[in-house]
Amino acid sequence: MPFAIRNVGLSWLSLALVGTVLVTAGCSDSAADTIAAPDRGVVGLAMPTKGSARWIGDGENMVRQFTLLGYRTDLQYADDDVQTQIDQIDAMVERGDKALVVGAINGSALKDVLAKAAAADIPVISYDRLIRDSANVDYYATFDNYRVGVLQGAYIVDTLGLKRGRGPFNLELFAGSADDNNATFFFNGAMSVLRPYLGRGRLVVRSGQTSFAAVATPRWDGAVARQRMARILASSYGSARLDAVLSPYDGISRGILEAVKAAGYRGSRLPVLTGQDAELDSVKLIADGQQGQTVYKDTRELAKVAVQMTNSLLTGGTPEVNDTEQYDNGVKTVPTFLLQPVNVDRSNYQRVLVEGGYYTADQLAA
Ligand code: GAL
Repeated sequence: MPFAIRNVGLSWLSLALVGTVLVTAGCSDSAADTIAAPDRGVVGLAMPTKGSARWIGDGENMVRQFTLLGYRTDLQYADDDVQTQIDQIDAMVERGDKALVVGAINGSALKDVLAKAAAADIPVISYDRLIRDSANVDYYATFDNYRVGVLQGAYIVDTLGLKRGRGPFNLELFAGSADDNNATFFFNGAMSVLRPYLGRGRLVVRSGQTSFAAVATPRWDGAVARQRMARILASSYGSARLDAVLSPYDGISRGILEAVKAAGYRGSRLPVLTGQDAELDSVKLIADGQQGQTVYKDTRELAKVAVQMTNSLLTGGTPEVNDTEQYDNGVKTVPTFLLQPVNVDRSNYQRVLVEGGYYTADQLAA
């Protein structure tokens, strides 16, 4: 047998790339015939749900990148159930994982289990969503969440021609899950752009539902959004036309679109509709002119940041950050690396998403 591979969890490619492999092939001494692959231990990846394509991509991207660095991974999805996620993280701590990367379901529910992680000296990276109310969050990797909302609000303002004095127009508002810190950031960012027009009566919310609490969508659930949109159309619109809908996320946008179509909106009468995540189904709707916009966040880049942060912490380094002010989790301001989100609509989806390698033309055509 020419080689003995001690760490069967690593591929040849990753062994080569890690660059710390001792290869002594060709030597007849059996001890020297051994490849000593690095085993940097297991990183626990606790992701919220497989119900949305982006989190599947996030998980896969991190596994790939951690593997290249010589780590093994334990990737868990919690089916959007808070207790399941707590149990999964608890099991990772019990097993002695080297570090945890957590995309929280309920940002405020992890205090106890993270205290247990801290007692075992296990560093924690908050992934995409800020973990709140815990001192035991070491770093945060995310996109500029406020800016996501600004892009959505600006798309509505630009597309309706509000700056050119057009209007008034009817708008309805949707926000994400209230227990996800990001949802407030998205909403506040969007409202910073929309509020002046609401104040001057150039945008009118006929339902009267304008507070974050009134427009939040538990678990980012598209079906919940569809039902709320249908109720609003039935109760507040009559013969009036709905011109635009602020939606924080593609899954919610598709629910809204179903409701407006069921109410008879078609073609150019469809409301201006925003989104986020550049999910494949929504990009197809953008290409088809049904959803106006989405906010693209390259999950490959986010995975890269989280992996680098983790690796740096585990090898005695200091992770790079670019925001030490915005993300106060109620106990501490968590040092953060912010990536930039990108506005995507019909005019640039080909260039950004297809030429950028996020989707193939075939995927969009299927
Ligand atoms: C947010 C995330 C968005 C979207 C949403 C629903 O926390 O930042 O990109 O994925 O959850 O999953």
